[in-house]
Amino acid sequence: MPVVGVIGGGQLARMMVPPAVALGIEIRVLAEQEESSARLAATQVGDYRDVDTVRAFAAGCDVITFDHEHVPQDVLRALVADGMSVQPGPDALAAAQDKLHMRERLTALGVPVPTWARITTRDELAQFLADNGGRAVVKTPRGGYDGKGVRVVDRADAADDWLADGAVLAEQLVDFRRELAQLVARRPSGDLRAWPLVETVQKGGVCAEVLAPAPRSSDAVERSAAEIAATVAHGLGVTGVLAVELFETMDGRVLVNELAMRPHNSGHFSIDAAVTSQFEQHLRAVLDWPLGDTELVAPHAVMINVFGGLTDDQIAQALGHQPAAKVHAYGKSPRPGRKAGHVTAMGDDLDDVAYRARAAAAHFDA
Ligand SMILES: Nc1ncnc2c1ncn2[C@@H]1O[C@H](COP(=O)(O)OP(=O)(O)OP(=O)(O)O)[C@@H](O)[C@H]1O
Ligand SMILES: [Mg+2]
Repeated sequence: MPVVGVIGGGQLARMMVPPAVALGIEIRVLAEQEESSARLAATQVGDYRDVDTVRAFAAGCDVITFDHEHVPQDVLRALVADGMSVQPGPDALAAAQDKLHMRERLTALGVPVPTWARITTRDELAQFLADNGGRAVVKTPRGGYDGKGVRVVDRADAADDWLADGAVLAEQLVDFRRELAQLVARRPSGDLRAWPLVETVQKGGVCAEVLAPAPRSSDAVERSAAEIAATVAHGLGVTGVLAVELFETMDGRVLVNELAMRPHNSGHFSIDAAVTSQFEQHLRAVLDWPLGDTELVAPHAVMINVFGGLTDDQIAQALGHQPAAKVHAYGKSPRPGRKAGHVTAMGDDLDDVAYRARAAAAHFDA
């Protein structure tokens, strides 16, 4: 049995467990805490920032991969120096760990991105605002998620608190038609597969819904998204799943928002609605095994995130009222705003599928 070690015990690690079981892969998790979402796998609790802890965890594994991108570079490089297979590797991951570095690497690859600048002072932000119509998006380079660390600003002093800690990323506020995500998986040997382009709907900076495939997409948009994701995956040497978050502009261009080098919320539809899920594909890719087909098993799928928590009663009610919907609970203790699960519905008619997914998800509204 190959042994895959996953650093991070969140829902992404949890959702790797069923395909690991199916494929005869042993999965071990280095979790942050005892009550992790991934605790059903063989779990060890420890600090992923501590090189000795991570080394000891990795010792029994054939490959190390991730539930999040926060493992420090020195820890990653120590594993590589030990001869461990780390997928994705430190150089690729660096571009997902720091949004300034990400913008630099994407720009160097010639991939279209919003106008951006590295900002270190209030004066530089004032200049960026003046050059970009008086409004901008400012982001902390590290540690942001679910819209935390992202701020729309129209005053040069609006990022003083972040600038006190170092440089920030400023971007043009993109007037997008919609947000899209292109997921691909790449093996160390270079083989790459893409899932259909999806539309993501964020509410308050957080992913709320995903429509697969992205409805009414032009061929040109689909082609650009697929080309961009392949360029990034090959150009940065990404292995495993790469999610490329995109903006479709009003004039039909595609710009990269950000990258994730692991299974991603925008790919959860694939568990129920694609021949090969992103979690199975990730395991296959990091082991350098042949990749699976990525087509949808129904013309349309809609995935809806559930926040807060899911009680047993709510799950039973959702299943009772929407027997065709697929409910996924992440086994996390309830907390307002926390991603606690998701619901997927599939079928022939997008409106009907969206209705059924939303009706099932509504059972979890507190
Ligand atoms: N330059 C931009 N112009 C317009 N909207 C933007 C821009 N950058 C980000 N946003 C909006 O803010 C959301 C969150 O931004 P981003 O993806 O950078 O942050 P995050 O917190 O790292 O997200 P995630 O939850 O995906 O980790 C985007 O999905 C988009 O809706
Ligand atoms: Mg994002």
